[in-house]
Amino acid sequence: MEAMRKGAREFGLNVSASRLTTGNHRLYETLERELAEFFGVQSAILVSCGYAANLVATEIFARNASHLLIDEKAHASVQDAARYFNGPIIRFRHQDSDHVDRLVKKLGPASAPLLLTDGMFSQNGSIPPLKRFLDVLPARGMILVDDAHAAGVLGKNGCGSIEHCEMPRTRFVQCITLSKAFGVYGGAVLGRENLARDAAIRSRWFSGNTPMPLPLASAALESLRVFRSDQSLRQRLVWNVDYVKSKLRGRGFPVADTPSPIISFAPETQSQATRLKRRLLSREVYPSLIKYPGGPPLGNFRFALSSEHSRRQLDLLITALSSD
Ligand SMILES: Cc1ncc(COP(=O)(O)O)c(C=O)c1O
Repeated sequence: MEAMRKGAREFGLNVSASRLTTGNHRLYETLERELAEFFGVQSAILVSCGYAANLVATEIFARNASHLLIDEKAHASVQDAARYFNGPIIRFRHQDSDHVDRLVKKLGPASAPLLLTDGMFSQNGSIPPLKRFLDVLPARGMILVDDAHAAGVLGKNGCGSIEHCEMPRTRFVQCITLSKAFGVYGGAVLGRENLARDAAIRSRWFSGNTPMPLPLASAALESLRVFRSDQSLRQRLVWNVDYVKSKLRGRGFPVADTPSPIISFAPETQSQATRLKRRLLSREVYPSLIKYPGGPPLGNFRFALSSEHSRRQLDLLITALSSD
């Protein structure tokens, strides 16, 4: 908050123009350098939000692609991003690398598909088989990962799903949001060198949009500094996820054995949903029953754990979910 106030006092709110005209600012360039350094990529470009990061990345990378392969359950922003492609768009079954393999065999080894997927699916926290996708793609194939939920969460250093899968970054482009783990607002595309040059040439979104407000860029720089200097944040998150998942598993509650902080399940009947809602509320847990497009008809109960949840809060969730 102080970094945001300081940013506002020193620089004002808004640059009132796109970066390619008169709206560039050293804060943006510093933040891009810091993001590239933290995520271990050659370059990063800031975009005004995570939704737009997928659009801009697709505008840049789909130019060289022969086909777009997209997970049927990819986030709305990824589905919208696919519209920026002028060639054939092929949907593959959710997280199904065998299906991708069969599709790619039909396209042939000379094809250059761009595969679009979330790095962690928000509905249930599942993580796609990125390594297997890369194995079955032809040599010129690339993967665009929407890491809105995985950045700052997955991987040894919190760099996201690519780090979690221990993959080299050469054939990946990673899109992130600054609005979730980093707690601010804004988005970024991370990848090979010269992204800014390519975005200026290829992305109408990037060249025509006013960048994120300066106080937010200032806050994002501070958020990244805190994230890098305070290892205990991620340690607490890992501990909390482990604690809740192992306790729930011990009580026979089905939870995936992944480092994802999202716990989700679909109620089978309306009365089960109503009973659980009441029980959660009586234990001070917000009963977040969310209806996702294409998801189960009654919706998913979905809980996102944070490094800042107290042990008491975690225990309230565990008892609410596992007592019947
Ligand atoms: C998977 C995913 N991608 C992209 C976004 C968009 O990010 P932003 O809210 O920063 O635009 C979201 C949502 O908030 C999301 O859940």
